[in-house]
Amino acid sequence: MSKKIIHIGIIGLGAIGERLMNIFKGREDILVSAFCDASETRLKEMAATYNVKKVFTDYQELLACEELDAVYVAVPPKFHEEIVLAAIEAGKHILCEKPLANSIEEADRMLTAVKKTELVHAMHFPLNYQASLQQFEAFINEGFIGELRRINLKMHFPHWPRLWQQSDWVAGREQGGYVLEVGVHWIQAIQRIFGPIKEVRSQLQFPNDPSLCENGIIAEMKLESGISVLIDGLSNIGGEEQLEFAAYGTEGTLQLKNWRQLVGAKTGNDLEELTVTEGSARNLISEFVKAVHGEEAELYDFSVGYNAQLALEALRHPKDNEWQRIM
Ligand SMILES: NC(=O)c1ccc[n+]([C@@H]2O[C@H](COP(=O)([O-])OP(=O)(O)OC[C@H]3O[C@@H](n4cnc5c(N)ncnc54)[C@H](O)[C@@H]3O)[C@@H](O)[C@H]2O)c1
Repeated sequence: MSKKIIHIGIIGLGAIGERLMNIFKGREDILVSAFCDASETRLKEMAATYNVKKVFTDYQELLACEELDAVYVAVPPKFHEEIVLAAIEAGKHILCEKPLANSIEEADRMLTAVKKTELVHAMHFPLNYQASLQQFEAFINEGFIGELRRINLKMHFPHWPRLWQQSDWVAGREQGGYVLEVGVHWIQAIQRIFGPIKEVRSQLQFPNDPSLCENGIIAEMKLESGISVLIDGLSNIGGEEQLEFAAYGTEGTLQLKNWRQLVGAKTGNDLEELTVTEGSARNLISEFVKAVHGEEAELYDFSVGYNAQLALEALRHPKDNEWQRIM
């Protein structure tokens, strides 16, 4: 017998909401049958483009649609909690954008509420399904770099917000900034590959306008093993966007450049491009569908989101460059 098609509603139809809509629309196992966006103009535009008939500006009305098995929450971070708690109340499985929330307290309430249910709760941390990061991890596990000595994360942006994500909230201090938008992906990847982050100390630099997000960060996070993760972030600078994630070890170096390009070198040699052959071929949406059908799936759930939020909030809210213990 063929499996039931999962019906999902999208709440938040901005840059990422549309990106995932384009992934959902090519599939036969999941159907986007309702849209919600607070902006009526955006809602109408998206409904016309993707031919979705049930459209709402109020997410409660979308959640009242009985045929919906699940919702994808793609609104800005400070609205995640309210909408996710309502979705839990309505008994819908949830795929939530990162970061889980806009504070530890919000993330805690979301995790606590969902743990009392049998609902699927997945985060959209796409790096986990990306072949280049999987290959990076495979090299680490094979011992390519030997024993880990240091991790460096460089986030340099000539423009922040980036040109493809020009929403006011992304530029704002309340719920935007690249520590939150970009940094959280790497925090989660570090926690998954290298284990828990134990403590964090951070210095942020801001522009004069108090409503605008950081334009610089210098921070250090310590893994349980005592190894340091150094973070160097700068925005609104000359030059190209540079996003570099590097692991240095006793025998070599591995680096991911601009999310996907994997380079590496044995100690003393020049970096060279490495072939990406690993790749589980799993993807978030297939895994989410499996989980909704009650099957085993590779998902990164709200507890993963919560753990990433602990380190994220310590970076976003420095305490005079003092160490903050997060676990
Ligand atoms: N996983 C990723 O790689 C990735 C990439 C970009 C953004 N994100 C995350 O996705 C989320 C959305 O980011 P974005 O760049 O698409 O933002 P965006 O500003 O482009 O879109 C957000 C949309 O949500 C709508 N909205 C706001 N409040 C709402 C509410 N209460 N009810 C219904 N609709 C509401 C807005 O009208 C807007 O259309 C954020 O949490 C962001 O961090 C994740």
